[in-house]
Amino acid sequence: MRVAVPLESGVGEHRVALTPDVARRLGAGGFELVVERGAGTRAGFLDEAYADAGAAIVDASALHEGAAATVRVAPPSADEVTRLTPGSVLVGFLAPLSGPERLEHLRAHGVVAFAMESIPRITRAQSMDALSSQATVAGYKAVLLAADRSPKMFPLLMTAAGTVAPARVLVLGAGVAGLQAIATARRLGAVVSAFDVRPVVREQVESLGAAFLDLGVVGEETEGGYAKELTPEQQAEQQRALEQRIPDFDVVVTTALVPGRPAPRLIPGSAVERMSPGSVIVDLAAETGGNCELTVPGEETTAHDVTIVGLTNLPSLMASDASRLYARNVQAVLEHLAPGGELTLDWEDEITAGACVSRGEETG
Ligand code: NAI
Repeated sequence: MRVAVPLESGVGEHRVALTPDVARRLGAGGFELVVERGAGTRAGFLDEAYADAGAAIVDASALHEGAAATVRVAPPSADEVTRLTPGSVLVGFLAPLSGPERLEHLRAHGVVAFAMESIPRITRAQSMDALSSQATVAGYKAVLLAADRSPKMFPLLMTAAGTVAPARVLVLGAGVAGLQAIATARRLGAVVSAFDVRPVVREQVESLGAAFLDLGVVGEETEGGYAKELTPEQQAEQQRALEQRIPDFDVVVTTALVPGRPAPRLIPGSAVERMSPGSVIVDLAAETGGNCELTVPGEETTAHDVTIVGLTNLPSLMASDASRLYARNVQAVLEHLAPGGELTLDWEDEITAGACVSRGEETG
């Protein structure tokens, strides 16, 4: 089975869907790899490394010739959809919940598409869980950005020139990204508190050495382990409680998400106003509107002397390791869909059926 790896076209997207190491493994497992020239360069993987791993390096015009599958990081543009071969398979982040147009286009073009976001979060599919692998990178990078932007040091320092108090960090949302943010801030020596609406998270937060901040708001969980959206009353209560507590912190990292919904609004502008000058907010939910009212998605801004980082693709800032992890997720998906390099789509299978967002023209 021939698999095409394009150069990502999205603005600021530096990741690549397959690394040379994974290309070699797939090559040994019955797959034939075709990589667009320069596809991995921005993540630190040169064309020569792919060639050494047995992949063919081609120009964009030849990429899809004979390819039965295309693997990408970010969703394809409309133009890129039309370049895919009808009947072929597409694997990547396809933002299935953010608008039906792209999926309709894929269906109309006869592409059988699997969205990384839709892979069921079951034990059997853990190696394919790109949401988790990329959230881990984002949580780590969020804290590094915060530490860099903050005028305070993170650790407690006792020096001849006096004592430096540790930074106080609050992490809102303690899913995969939030737990990594807690661990990273702790490693840097900060005193960390965290909050999540799912009460089961308290133990995980505490096991990482952070304090669970009790805001008096307890949400519900779906069967899949995700948070349900709070009621308007609970949201208002959460905002009120945070407004009181937020001035205690030098850094706030927000990661709260509810699948398929705009990001919950946790931090009103009035709470930002109460923070000390020089405080930092890193809003990992910026892409879906932001957890902070004053976040500008894609931008780093200052409001009330508080730095608000609303960058939307933190994994791309760590393109090398983010790509390494993502490539292993993609490898697992390809080996699931095409064991031994032979495409075998079993629609009774929970992972195959769950991840599929377009079956192409014939059945779609
Ligand atoms: P996510 O990215 O959808 O959300 C991040 C966090 O925000 C969640 O912990 C959520 O509870 C929290 N949140 C939502 N609304 C909030 C609010 N108003 N205030 C504060 N926090 C709020 O979630 P993520 O990180 O993708 O994972 C969520 C769940 O999925 C977790 O239970 C995790 O353990 C589970 N999971 C299961 C896997 C498996 O293979 N079984 C793999 C990965 C995650």
